[in-house]
Amino acid sequence: MAGTDAQELLFGWNSLGSDKGARVEFLRDRDIWKAVRTWDRAFLADPLVSYMNADLKETPTRIFRKRATMALGFMLWIRSQLVLTIDQGSAIVTAQVPSDVPPNLKIKFLAWAFSRVLAFNKKLVRNEEARKRQNEYDSKIKIVIAEKIGDESKSMLHIPLIATSPECQGHGYGSALLAKVTNLADSKGLSSWLVSSNILNEPFYNSHGFRAVGDIHLGEGNLNWNKDPIIVQVMIREPVLLKA
Ligand SMILES: CC(C)(COP(=O)(O)OP(=O)(O)OC[C@H]1O[C@@H](n2cnc3c(N)ncnc32)[C@H](O)[C@@H]1OP(=O)(O)O)[C@@H](O)C(=O)NCCC(=O)NCCS
Repeated sequence: MAGTDAQELLFGWNSLGSDKGARVEFLRDRDIWKAVRTWDRAFLADPLVSYMNADLKETPTRIFRKRATMALGFMLWIRSQLVLTIDQGSAIVTAQVPSDVPPNLKIKFLAWAFSRVLAFNKKLVRNEEARKRQNEYDSKIKIVIAEKIGDESKSMLHIPLIATSPECQGHGYGSALLAKVTNLADSKGLSSWLVSSNILNEPFYNSHGFRAVGDIHLGEGNLNWNKDPIIVQVMIREPVLLKA
């Protein structure tokens, strides 16, 4: 089971139509590498990513390793989540939708392989500062998510990732993708949540009905960080009731 078959089974969709002139499609295996490049390049200027990198050098090996890891992630997500794109990978959104469909063997294997690769990559990070910052993020965000969302997350739609390649930003791609996902949430009466890694994106999310319910500040009191603290927000959107 792959691509549209999985999406149809999980979400009852097999075609998507278009929004605001931008054609929204399911991401296909053949477009994964372009989607990975979009993700990597879109987040280069992201404050959270810069903080977490802790001056780690972007060597060709490191770039290849993070992109290959992400490609494996996309292989898993297009079979187990909703993954939508515009222009075959120029903009992407992923969404976890509560579902009763049990994962098949292929999904279980991919999930296992992905978690092993992530754990392996973590061990390769020799930079103590980067490790410290990862732990700081993990512990702080865990508390806010538990406090503000808690067990409700199981019955909510979660949006782990949205990105548009730098050269395509500002053309309505992100809005068209997010609108598809929030329309799905509305049609199912589901609340949605996400973690926003860039405070500058707040107006973008607000315009789609998301509101910040909590935040964390990273870098405060860290002598190796001389910039403003990084603000990461947890945001929730309530479903809009659709007219019968
Ligand atoms: C956030 C993001 C996904 C928006 O995608 P997009 O395709 O540019 O979105 P749109 O073209 O629909 O623009 C949406 C709004 O965001 C604004 N915007 C777009 N790109 C922006 C940028 N680089 N910086 C600030 N605002 C931006 C637009 O002006 C627009 O506002 P408007 O509706 O008032 O005109 C995209 O900017 C991106 O990939 N950023 C880097 C990765 C990232 O931050 N992902 C989200 C992590 S929480």
